[in-house]
Amino acid sequence: MEKESRYETTVKRLIGHNLNAEEKVQLYNDWSPTFETNNKQFDYTGNSKCCEVVCKYFPKNIEHIVMLDVGAGTGLLAKELACKGFKIIDGLDPSSGMLKEAEKKNLYRNLFCTYFTSKPLLFSNPGGIICIVNRRSPFCESPDYVNKFFPLCDQLEQEGKWKKEEITTFNGFIENADRIIIVYRVR
Ligand SMILES: C[S@@+](CC[C@H](N)C(=O)[O-])C[C@H]1O[C@@H](n2cnc3c(N)ncnc32)[C@H](O)[C@@H]1O
Repeated sequence: MEKESRYETTVKRLIGHNLNAEEKVQLYNDWSPTFETNNKQFDYTGNSKCCEVVCKYFPKNIEHIVMLDVGAGTGLLAKELACKGFKIIDGLDPSSGMLKEAEKKNLYRNLFCTYFTSKPLLFSNPGGIICIVNRRSPFCESPDYVNKFFPLCDQLEQEGKWKKEEITTFNGFIENADRIIIVYRVR
């Protein structure tokens, strides 16, 4: 019952309503104190799966790799990455509430409170890995992804700026929603 109520009040609101940028930040600010408890209730495996995929691309010298965790939230991915030996992790998120929780983990070198609005490539050196994770439904249905983001990804690939390395689908979130991980390597 508790699970359903949290799902109703936050996730469904986030997914189902056309919230503007400010409203989304407010929602995450409000959610931040209980975000991790809710993730545990839902057996959310997104961060461990993302970390597993990223680690495949960095078999050695992990401690020298610079990571940028976009949409860092409360720092759950940084926790997974740090366990694997990553030491230089920056985080970026527009929600100050989420970042306040992330800061408590003492795992980030820098935390930036802002929306990510740039082309991902501008933050990566040649050879760098960009790993994108989300639920399948927005990837397939949201006009922002379908009409803007993925056409940009395809265009960058056609221009030889990056190359798709893999697409992995896994199950492990609320109501059996599939999630997708897409990995690009910058050229
Ligand atoms: C569902 S939470 C996930 C947090 C964390 N990655 C995890 O899996 O535990 C999504 C986070 O992405 C942030 N976010 C949403 N749009 C963003 C954007 N354009 N740039 C950076 N962060 C964004 C939100 O503020 C929120 O903290």
